[in-house]
Amino acid sequence: MAGELACSACGSRFPIREGVPVLLPGNVDAVKTETASRFAEEWLRWSDLRDYYEQEFFAWVAPVTAADFAGQVVFEGGCGKGRHTAIAASHGAKAVVAIDLGESAFVAFNHTRQLPNAHVVIGDLMQPPVRPVFDLAFSVGVLHHLPDPAAAFASLASRVREGGRVSFWVYGLEGNEWITRYVDPIRTRVTSRLPAGLLRAACLLPSAFLWAVIKLFYRPRANGRGPAMLPYGDYFASMYSYPFDEIHANVFDQLVTPVAHYLTGDQVRAWLASGFRDVTVRSHRGYSWTGLATVARGAAARAS
Ligand SMILES: C[S@@+](CC[C@H](N)C(=O)[O-])C[C@H]1O[C@@H](n2cnc3c(N)ncnc32)[C@H](O)[C@@H]1O
Repeated sequence: MAGELACSACGSRFPIREGVPVLLPGNVDAVKTETASRFAEEWLRWSDLRDYYEQEFFAWVAPVTAADFAGQVVFEGGCGKGRHTAIAASHGAKAVVAIDLGESAFVAFNHTRQLPNAHVVIGDLMQPPVRPVFDLAFSVGVLHHLPDPAAAFASLASRVREGGRVSFWVYGLEGNEWITRYVDPIRTRVTSRLPAGLLRAACLLPSAFLWAVIKLFYRPRANGRGPAMLPYGDYFASMYSYPFDEIHANVFDQLVTPVAHYLTGDQVRAWLASGFRDVTVRSHRGYSWTGLATVARGAAARAS
């Protein structure tokens, strides 16, 4: 639970804290550390695991299914409280190595410590402290929070072996233009700088409004009927049965971070333009992008 990892070849030393190896290089930018520590405020507060996370996860990463994890060596970039780490590990992965830059890794460790195939590490996705040996790498809701999402994707994919697969879900620009126009200025100038307790309190009113709108108008859609023209139709319908505090957490999640990029389909497809095969990019519910691709050339070949 506490100790140190020491490299006899290069002399580097890394602490182990509360069961989690802290494999951080000395040069992590302040903006990335700040982003991770803001998210830790979310995962330390809304720390429990919920039944509906599994359905939500497989909706985000489809066409990846539970069967795709069986027997695989899996890498997760940005695990937060470990909700998806636990799902991947419980579906028969040979090993799951999950990294996060923030203190939320300790929450993830506690959620997965009973799973012998789950390994949580504090590390920077831009300099992942792992070799390119993974059968499957995935990252849900993370790449768009790094200063350069394309570079973050390349870094995630660089840890996949040749013939392995990389899967991700990111915010889309399409369908979210109003957020970039009206919400982002408030997020960057105000809410991402508020103390977490104050932001939680400030999110209560908009969360209550959103919760009421979902309960009042999205029930038919949640039951597979209802008008297609409702804004965020399938997304809000998927939240119809969520408890209020999940809506509150989602609103907080939108407003807490200093960095959020909203990406076009073309930007995302460009990440996969070379070095990959069997590429699938799909719009997820009209407001985000899900990608899946097979690494055609391993990291060693790409570097040479
Ligand atoms: C919106 S959360 C998503 C967490 C998790 N994937 C989930 O869906 O529950 C984004 C996560 O990315 C992590 N993160 C941000 N920058 C990172 C970096 N450079 N390296 C590793 N993790 C990072 C944050 O600490 C945060 O936990």
